[in-house]
Amino acid sequence: MAAVALERRGIDTAGVTARPFLKWAGGKSQLLPELVRRSPRRIETYYEPFLGGAALFFALSSDPERAPRRAVLNDLNGQLMTTYGVVRDEPEALVAALERLQEQYACADDAGRAALYYRIRDEHRRAAGVEIAARVIFLNKTCFNGLFRVNRRGEFNVPFGRYKSPRILDREGLLAASQALRGVELRSADFEGACADAGSGDFVYFDPPFHPLSATSNFTAYTERDFGRAEQIRLKRCIDGLTSRGVAVMLSNSPHPWIRGGYEFAGYDIDEVQARRAINSRGDGRGPIGEILVSNQPLILALENEVEPEPVLQVR
Ligand SMILES: C[S@@+](CC[C@H](N)C(=O)[O-])C[C@H]1O[C@@H](n2cnc3c(N)ncnc32)[C@H](O)[C@@H]1O
Repeated sequence: MAAVALERRGIDTAGVTARPFLKWAGGKSQLLPELVRRSPRRIETYYEPFLGGAALFFALSSDPERAPRRAVLNDLNGQLMTTYGVVRDEPEALVAALERLQEQYACADDAGRAALYYRIRDEHRRAAGVEIAARVIFLNKTCFNGLFRVNRRGEFNVPFGRYKSPRILDREGLLAASQALRGVELRSADFEGACADAGSGDFVYFDPPFHPLSATSNFTAYTERDFGRAEQIRLKRCIDGLTSRGVAVMLSNSPHPWIRGGYEFAGYDIDEVQARRAINSRGDGRGPIGEILVSNQPLILALENEVEPEPVLQVR
């Protein structure tokens, strides 16, 4: 449907590859080749329970060798998932709403831009899906550092970014994303429920809020709920459960010894890779940081060959 509409508007999306349309803390664009390389070649259903900017989903869906047959995408952040729904189902209405915002921003002076930003930021309760999506995209393009951060009440609280000419509307990019999302199931729930129905032949990529390496690097505020040690333990148990059902899993996390050790001792495969981060907790430390990629491939192979797997130790 989107393709027909594009022709009518005279927009050519041919040659535009779908990619993240939001800048997201912890976004994976840097590491994509490493992630794609470690993804299975044949994927029945692809699950991404911590979706954020969806970098791996867009990369896999435009890869002829690995494009999944189905996809289930999830994030606990409800406004984010509403935005994906609007991009999928109402791209033209969204383009029109962003066009209006782009124009208002361009015509305003510095004070007018800041006033527009804070007016939209402080409208926390927008009712219509298109308005919610336009607000999320507008704030993401114009806020300080492109950071999505909410307070305990779930309200977006990032200051104005003072950019001269931010690209509020990327028409072709949004329309390419809309096509990639066609037929995709979108959910907004906790990660456990979001992949509960995965089975053999499916692939789940988990990119949770990172376990902080130090007390000053604890950016976990994507939603009003924190992602602490108890959540990391719950995630490990969820991954153990998927592994015992023969579901291929890959996990990104920080190389903290507590995280690393828990998976290593349980027989998971661990690789450490380096990524340059666009956003971190303070916004000033943009150097490369290590990240571990955990895979359950050895455990799945052991299951397939009916070899007794290594005893699974619990993370303490
Ligand atoms: C590191 S980000 C994912 C980044 C993403 N891979 C990308 O490429 O942009 C983690 C995401 O997990 C979501 N999240 C936090 N707690 C969650 C939970 N309990 N269940 C599902 N999603 C959760 C956050 O809203 C956030 O978008």
